[in-house]
Amino acid sequence: MTATTRAALEFTGVSKVFDTGTTALSGVDLSVAPGEFVAVVGPSGCGKSTLLRLASGLDRVTDGTLEVAADTTSFVFQDPTLLPWRSALGNVALVGQLRGVGKKERTARAADALALVGLTDFAKSFPRQLSGGMRMRVSLARALVADPQLALFDEPFGALDEITRLGMQTELQRLFQLRGFAGLFITHSVSEAVYLSTRVVVMTGRPGRIAADIAVPFAHPRSPELRYTPEFAALTGEVSHALEGHHS
Ligand SMILES: Nc1ncnc2c1ncn2[C@@H]1O[C@H](COP(=O)(O)OP(=O)(O)O)[C@@H](O)[C@H]1O
Ligand SMILES: [Mg+2]
Repeated sequence: MTATTRAALEFTGVSKVFDTGTTALSGVDLSVAPGEFVAVVGPSGCGKSTLLRLASGLDRVTDGTLEVAADTTSFVFQDPTLLPWRSALGNVALVGQLRGVGKKERTARAADALALVGLTDFAKSFPRQLSGGMRMRVSLARALVADPQLALFDEPFGALDEITRLGMQTELQRLFQLRGFAGLFITHSVSEAVYLSTRVVVMTGRPGRIAADIAVPFAHPRSPELRYTPEFAALTGEVSHALEGHHS
C-alpha cells in the first residue's frame, strides 16, 4: 500500500480491559483515512477518552491491533494546559524547543501558528490575560505548529460557553480545510460532531462498541449558517436516533 491510501489511524478488533476489571472497549473497528475528520459521540463512560488515549500511545490495547501511520500526531484536550509563566508565543514555541528546533525558527513558526488562529496581537500576553476561547486558540496553535498529519481532540470545547464554542467550531473546520490533517474528535455534542466532521461514529454505552457510522456529506468551507438548514437537522436527527437506540 502507498502512503496516500493507508489509513492515518486504524483500530482493528480493539478491546481495552483495565487492571480494575473494567472493560472500556470491546471489538472496536475504526479507521481514519488521510484527510478525513471523524467525530466520535457516545454516552459518558463509554470509552471515548480511552479510545483517544490508545490512539495517542498513552495507553496500550488489551486485544486487537492499532496502527498509527502518521509521522506527527498532536492532541488537544479540554484543558488547554498552558504554562502560566510563558506568553502565548512562548507556549506555542515550546513545541519546537522540545524538538530541538533553533530559537529563530521556532519563534517564527509559533508566530505563524498564532496568526493562523487570529492571535497575533496577543502573542506577548500571558494565559491569565486571555479569555477561555483565546486560551483554546493558543492550544490549537500549539497542536498545529508542527503541521501534524493526525490531530486528536478529546472534548476540547466542552468547557467553553456556547457562543465561544460555536466560534471555535467554525475556526477548527477552517483549520482542517486549510491544513488537511486527519482528525479524530471526541465530543458529546451531536451538532458539534456533525458540523465539524466528514463522518460521525456513534458508540454504545460501556463496554464501548461502534453502533453507527454516518457520513457527513457537506462541502467545506462550512458556514455557521449550515447549522440552520434542514439537511443539517436531518443528519443530527439521524445521529441522535442512533445514540438513543443504544442508551442503556
Ligand atoms: N485508568 C483507568 N483505570 C480503570 N478504569 C478506567 C481507567 N480509565 C477509564 N476507566 C473506565 O473505563 C470506562 C471508560 O472511560 P472513558 O474512556 O474515560 O469514558 P468517556 O471518555 O467516554 O466518558 C469508564 O468506566 C471508566 O471508569
Ligand atoms: Mg472522556
